[in-house]
Amino acid sequence: AYVITEPCIDVKDGDCTAACPVDCIYEGGRTFYIHPDECINCGLCLSICPVDAIAWDQEIPNNQRHFIAVNKEFFGSD
Ligand code: SF4
Ligand code: F3S
Repeated sequence: AYVITEPCIDVKDGDCTAACPVDCIYEGGRTFYIHPDECINCGLCLSICPVDAIAWDQEIPNNQRHFIAVNKEFFGSD
């Protein structure tokens, strides 16, 4: 699944939510989160984000990998 990472924090541009065909990007606190089970991996949100906060979980840089868990935990899954 795609994941929202550190650059989104306190930026929260929000355009990614309009791009998502399944509405699986949710606002919460200082950032937005992608629901890992609802995301259909279409990649449409990727190029929309002005701060490149969205990443494919298998290609995410090491220093951002904890955001995979952060996104999951927001929705209460593990
Ligand atoms: Fe939505 Fe597609 Fe982005 Fe997943 S990859 S969050 S389905 S726009
Ligand atoms: Fe955040 Fe980028 Fe979406 S800043 S709200 S991931 S467009």
